[in-house]
Amino acid sequence: MKSIKLAIHHRAGSFSEQWIAYCREKKIPFKIVNCYHSDIIQQLQDCDALMWHHDFTVYQDLLFAKELLFSIQHSGKKVFPDFHSTWHYDDKIGQKYLLESIGAPVIPTYVFYDKKSALTWIRDVTFPKVFKLKGGSGARNVRLVKNQRQARKLVNRCFGRGFSQYNKFGSIKERIRRFREGKAPFYRILTGIGRVFIVPEKARMVGAEKGYAYFQEFIPNNDYDIRLIVIGDKAYGMKRMNRKNDFRASGSANFVYDPIPPRVLKIAFETSEKLKLQSVAFDFVYDEERNPLIVEISYCFGTKGSSKCPGYWDKDLNWYEGQFDPQGWMVENLIKQ
Ligand SMILES: Nc1ncnc2c1ncn2[C@@H]1O[C@H](COP(=O)(O)OP(=O)(O)O)[C@@H](O)[C@H]1O
Ligand SMILES: [Mg+2]
Repeated sequence: MKSIKLAIHHRAGSFSEQWIAYCREKKIPFKIVNCYHSDIIQQLQDCDALMWHHDFTVYQDLLFAKELLFSIQHSGKKVFPDFHSTWHYDDKIGQKYLLESIGAPVIPTYVFYDKKSALTWIRDVTFPKVFKLKGGSGARNVRLVKNQRQARKLVNRCFGRGFSQYNKFGSIKERIRRFREGKAPFYRILTGIGRVFIVPEKARMVGAEKGYAYFQEFIPNNDYDIRLIVIGDKAYGMKRMNRKNDFRASGSANFVYDPIPPRVLKIAFETSEKLKLQSVAFDFVYDEERNPLIVEISYCFGTKGSSKCPGYWDKDLNWYEGQFDPQGWMVENLIKQ
């Protein structure tokens, strides 16, 4: 392994904690940098690579994380995540075109950029459909549209006042559900209620989401989705069970660690390779013929459930049981890239 010096942007609770631990353990030279400082380019002068787990929930990251990473990549240094891996992060519209362009198995998706086309489309289709905003996680911005009337209402809002980045009442409902299922403490309900009055910083800083309408075919009869993470030539994952009486799995925090079917692994490895992704988390559901369909992709992912996976697969679908270090793989792959 060539000796290179890494720069790591540290954020508590993010991948950087394990990146730093891995570098210390393997004696990989690194320094901590602060990407929010205006002199970040100078900070990187004595480094060969930058790693930054940027996140869509941090409004500053939305402003410049991709731009900074791509600039560093242009200058010839290595970055994680790189352009291929992250331009479509938190952007379901970008992902639609990207996945369609390589013929990946995806849920049929329709996007409209003006009200008239969206309303015309609604008149001729069957329901239910699924409506989404292009960003967000934990199924917060995903809903079932049962009929034409509901669809019309949503479209009017898409091209009217739009959607706030923070769904106050949806959030309280979700906090109550988590409390009831023993997945979150009671005080989280109270902070949710508090947030009706004091909205989170991101919602104050980022404008309403609007100007497009995004619909998908509803894929029925799935009581879970498959979350599959591919990092280079290794993959691991699990089932995420839907919320009670709900078609949505993401954010439910109900994980089941059954083996992943080989054809799901194959699609994930193939797609990751075709798209040159350093790291990718797929969501899969099954169509009525039991073909796996990709719901969405993301370079980063929650570690609460996935860190408990009992092992991983390699590209040839061999299984390796036991503990493993996905963030360590990210560092390792970047260094040998
Ligand atoms: N078109 C669809 N048909 C059926 N279920 C879907 C569809 N789209 C999403 N889901 C379910 O809803 C969940 C959230 O959708 P997703 O697009 O992954 O949003 P998020 O980015 O919030 O995770 C998925 O985990 C899946 O269980
Ligand atoms: Mg998802």
